[in-house]
Amino acid sequence: MSDASKGPAGADAGTPAVSIRRVTRRDAAGILAIHNEVVTRSTAIFDILARSLDEQVQWVADHSGGHPAIVATELDDSGIEDIVGFASLSPFRARPAYATTVEDSVYVREDRHGRGYGRALLGELLVLAVDGGFHSVIARIADHNEASIALHAAYGFEMVGVEREVGRKFGRWLDVVQMQRLL
Ligand SMILES: CC(C)(COP(=O)(O)OP(=O)(O)OC[C@H]1O[C@@H](n2cnc3c(N)ncnc32)[C@H](O)[C@@H]1OP(=O)(O)O)[C@@H](O)C(=O)NCCC(=O)NCCS
Repeated sequence: MSDASKGPAGADAGTPAVSIRRVTRRDAAGILAIHNEVVTRSTAIFDILARSLDEQVQWVADHSGGHPAIVATELDDSGIEDIVGFASLSPFRARPAYATTVEDSVYVREDRHGRGYGRALLGELLVLAVDGGFHSVIARIADHNEASIALHAAYGFEMVGVEREVGRKFGRWLDVVQMQRLL
């Protein structure tokens, strides 16, 4: 894939550069930590229970073919990669006529929010969606998540619907906003 290595937008001098690449099995634990943080602290994922490492390894396998996943990584002082975000394309619906549509997901570790990593991940993901021959990308965004709505709008996604109170987490009803971009 293209080398998307770049310093994050607005980063201070000395902030590690972020690189974006396709996921490998070795990334499962780093992705799991971010995923489970979102599950337990936020409404952005509708899971209630934390995922196991085995389940995350299976997720990586499921996103190593036509529906890819990517990771954003930084190098620490010892040259070891640190996973600071991930993004994926998943099937939108199982029935075959939906096969040219995908659903995207983007997650950035909380201590790295607002540094341009989400923008870099979604940009790379859309390149992969075009390369994969997909025609339409849907984002399903829970709880009127302003950051995610703004991120997708910045890439030309348009609001196409709101599913009212389809979820319930932390004792609250949750809407899901659908945004779409045709490729
Ligand atoms: C949503 C998320 C992926 C954005 O990633 P990020 O790295 O923090 O965002 P970026 O720094 O790349 O910002 C990209 C754009 O998003 C928007 N944005 C980011 N944070 C925002 C915020 N808190 N409020 C409003 N808009 C915001 C801005 O339009 C920004 O563009 P700009 O920098 O030109 O103003 C990240 O906040 C996240 O992982 N949140 C938790 C999980 C989640 O909600 N994922 C989405 C599920 S649908």
